[in-house]
Amino acid sequence: MRNPDPDWWSTAVCYEIYPRSFADSNGDGIGDLPGITARLGYVRDLGFDAIWLTPVFTSPMADHGYDVADYRHVDGIFGSTADLEALIESGHRHGLRVLLDLVPNHTSDQHPWFTEALAAPPGSPARDRYLFRPCTDPDNPPNNWEAAFGGSAWSRSVGPDGEPGDWYLHLFAPGQPDLNWENPEVRQEFEDILRYWFDRGVDGLRIDVAHGLCKDPAFPDAEHEQHQDQHFNHLMPYYDREPVHDVYRSWRAIADEYPGRVLVGEVYLIDLDRQLRYVRPDELHQVFNFAFLEAPWSADALRHVIVQTLATSAEVGTAPTWLIGSHDAVRPVTRYGGGEVGDRRARAAALLLFALPGACYVFQGEELGLAEVHVPDDRLQDPTWEMSGHTNRGRDGVRVPLPWSGEESPFGFSSPGAAEPWLPMPVDFAAQTVARQDQEGESMLALYRAALALRHDRLTTAGPLAWVDAGPEVIAFVRGGVGCAVNFGPTDWHWPAHWEPFLTSGAPAAGFVPADTAAWFTVR
Ligand code: GLC
Ligand code: CA
Repeated sequence: MRNPDPDWWSTAVCYEIYPRSFADSNGDGIGDLPGITARLGYVRDLGFDAIWLTPVFTSPMADHGYDVADYRHVDGIFGSTADLEALIESGHRHGLRVLLDLVPNHTSDQHPWFTEALAAPPGSPARDRYLFRPCTDPDNPPNNWEAAFGGSAWSRSVGPDGEPGDWYLHLFAPGQPDLNWENPEVRQEFEDILRYWFDRGVDGLRIDVAHGLCKDPAFPDAEHEQHQDQHFNHLMPYYDREPVHDVYRSWRAIADEYPGRVLVGEVYLIDLDRQLRYVRPDELHQVFNFAFLEAPWSADALRHVIVQTLATSAEVGTAPTWLIGSHDAVRPVTRYGGGEVGDRRARAAALLLFALPGACYVFQGEELGLAEVHVPDDRLQDPTWEMSGHTNRGRDGVRVPLPWSGEESPFGFSSPGAAEPWLPMPVDFAAQTVARQDQEGESMLALYRAALALRHDRLTTAGPLAWVDAGPEVIAFVRGGVGCAVNFGPTDWHWPAHWEPFLTSGAPAAGFVPADTAAWFTVR
C-alpha cells in the first residue's frame, strides 16, 4: 500500500533510476521503460517507497536526456508515452510513488523554440526565450562564464543564412541552450508542463539545476578560480539569484492544488544556509543534501553536516534529505576509499543514511555495492569527456548498466544476443549480480533489504535524534529507542551495556563496533 499521508515524502526512501542503464527490454543495448516496469517488484521488495526516473522525454541525447526537445512525450529510445503511463500505473499498484525529472534551466537545441529562435532575427520575441547576445568580437564571448562540462558557456548561433551570428548561453553542453526566465512565456510554459504531469498521476518532480534558472542581468564576469568548485556556487552570477524563488513560489501554489505531490530541487549549493532558502514553506518541498554527499569519510565532517542540516531544516520547518550518490557522483564505494575498505565504509554509510530522520535517496546500484567503473576512452559517452578536452572522464563510470544475473555481459541487463550495452559492463560484475547477491546472506543487497525493512518498522517515524557522546571518531545517536553508531576510527568502540545490536554493517563482533563499521541497537 502507498503511504496515504500527503507528507509521505518527508520520510520516504526514494530509488533513483537512470533508465538507460536499468533494464533493456527490446535488446538494443539501452535500458527502457518496459524494462523498468517489469522490474518494479525488485524495487518494491527492497523496501523503497518511491522511484525517481531521470529524464525520459524526447531528446537528441546530447546529455542523455537532460536536453529535452519535447517535455510532454517520451523518447522512442525509452518506449512510448503509453509505456510511461503504464509504468506510473504499475508503480502505484506496487505501492511506489513515481517522480519524473523536469529540466527548466535549458532545452535541447532541437526544441521547437530554439529552432524558431534561430530562424528569427536578433532581437525578436522568439529569441527572447533564450539568452542571445550580439557578437562584437568572434574571439571574445560576452563574458568569462564556463560550461559545467568544460570550455566557454557561450557558442555562436547559426542563422538561416548559414553564417555564425549572435552568441547564446549554455551552462552545460552547446546542445542545451539556457532559457530566459525573465520571459513570461517561459514561465507560463513550465507551469503548464507541471500541471500536465500532475494531471497524469505523477507524484512529484525532481527539478534539474534548480538554483540556476535566473542569471545576473548584468552578466558580469565570474571569479575564474571559483568556476568548477561547487562550494562557490552561491557566489556565481548565474546561480542562486533571488528571482528564482518567485518561480518556486508559483510552482508550489500549483503543487498544492494536487495533494501529496512533491517538488524536489537539485539545488547544488553546499552552503546549507543558502540551500535552505529553497525549502521555505511556500517554495520547494525538498532539496538534495549535497553537503552530505560531498563530505569525506570522516566522523568530524559528517557529524558537522548532520548537525547543520538538522538545524537549518528545523529553522524552515522541513524534513531533511540524505544521499551518498547519484548519476552525477563517483560511486560511494570508490569515493570512500575503494576496494575492501571502500566497501566496508559504503555498508556503514548505508546504515547511517537510513537511521537519520527525514528522507533518503539511493542511486541504482548502490544496493549492489557497485564501484566506479573505468570505461575505456573510446567508449566514453558523457559530453564532459570531449568538452573538457579529454581532461575529465565525466560520469560514465557510475552509469554502467546494472548486472542482474549470469556470468558474462550483459548480465541479464539485455537478453542474450542483444546489441552490446551502451556502456561496456566489466567482467567482475559477475560477483555482484542481483541473482548472486540474493543467495548471499552477507551481501550488500541483503544489507539494504534488511536495513530498509527495519527502518520501516522502527525508524521511519521515530522522531528527532539525541546525540550520544562516543568520542571524536564515532558518530552515535538514539532515535525512538533505536541506537545507531558508526565507527570511523581505528579503535574498536565498545557499546554501553544497555545497548543490544540487531543489525551490523560488518561481521558481528562481541561487544564492540570495529573500524569502518556501523550498527543499529535496541536501547533500553
Ligand atoms: C544536472 C543533472 C546532470 C545534467 C545537468 C544538465 O546536474 O543531474 O546529469 O548533466 O543537470 O542538465
Ligand atoms: Ca531498449
